[in-house]
Amino acid sequence: MRQNIVAGNWKMNKNLEEGLELAKELNDILKANKPNCKVVIGTPFIHLSKVAEIVDKELIGVSAQNCADKVSGAYTGEVSASMVKSTGVDYVILGHSERRSYYGETNEILKEKVDLALANDLTPIFCIGEVLEEREAEKHFEVVKSQIEEGLFHLSAETFGKIVLAYEPVWAIGTGKTASPEQAQEIHAFIRKTVAEKYGKEVADNTSILYGGSCKPSNAKELFANADVDGGLIGGAALKAEDFVGIISAF
Ligand code: 13P
Repeated sequence: MRQNIVAGNWKMNKNLEEGLELAKELNDILKANKPNCKVVIGTPFIHLSKVAEIVDKELIGVSAQNCADKVSGAYTGEVSASMVKSTGVDYVILGHSERRSYYGETNEILKEKVDLALANDLTPIFCIGEVLEEREAEKHFEVVKSQIEEGLFHLSAETFGKIVLAYEPVWAIGTGKTASPEQAQEIHAFIRKTVAEKYGKEVADNTSILYGGSCKPSNAKELFANADVDGGLIGGAALKAEDFVGIISAF
């Protein structure tokens, strides 16, 4: 059956020293108080190898926030999936709305990144979600459907089984405005149905679908209580061990 996962996305926050401090603090807390779900932290590239060294692998998975859409070569400033893997981490967040909107990542580019991540034995945490105008125009279902179709539906059923999905409505990211539990359940169920139509019920039932967007200790429980919400992808509240653990304890 699918895993419940709480994943933190640190975005462009924390210098190396601060990041190591946070990872260590989190590791100590979880060591003393074992979580009832999988915990992942998504750090900037420069933190990855050291964070992977200091956390207990069975307690905390470590994730990059991006990887290149090319294998290697003259791509100044890029970091490949194989480089990410060589730091000792197991996950990579792909298709975050900030990457899509600020760095022009299209579904076509993301498809390449997904393939390279999988080829390098990284688990993609693949983000989807609509912007406010799309929600208001009631286009959110078709938007997430096409993001999934174009970014992921070239995969075989077996390979799709390795993907973690994260639904993040862009209007809820960093705004303090969370999707209601009903809104989250409605679209998560739709996402699972979309996966089931392509790959069958078993694959869909085994796919973890996380919710992201202003998730915090005070609302995590009611969001995660929904049948099709299998955890969260957490931004701001992942930057403080106490808040992040508050969300983890919702399971
Ligand atoms: P916030 O939790 O800060 O809204 O960010 C969510 C997010 O974008 C996680 O990837």
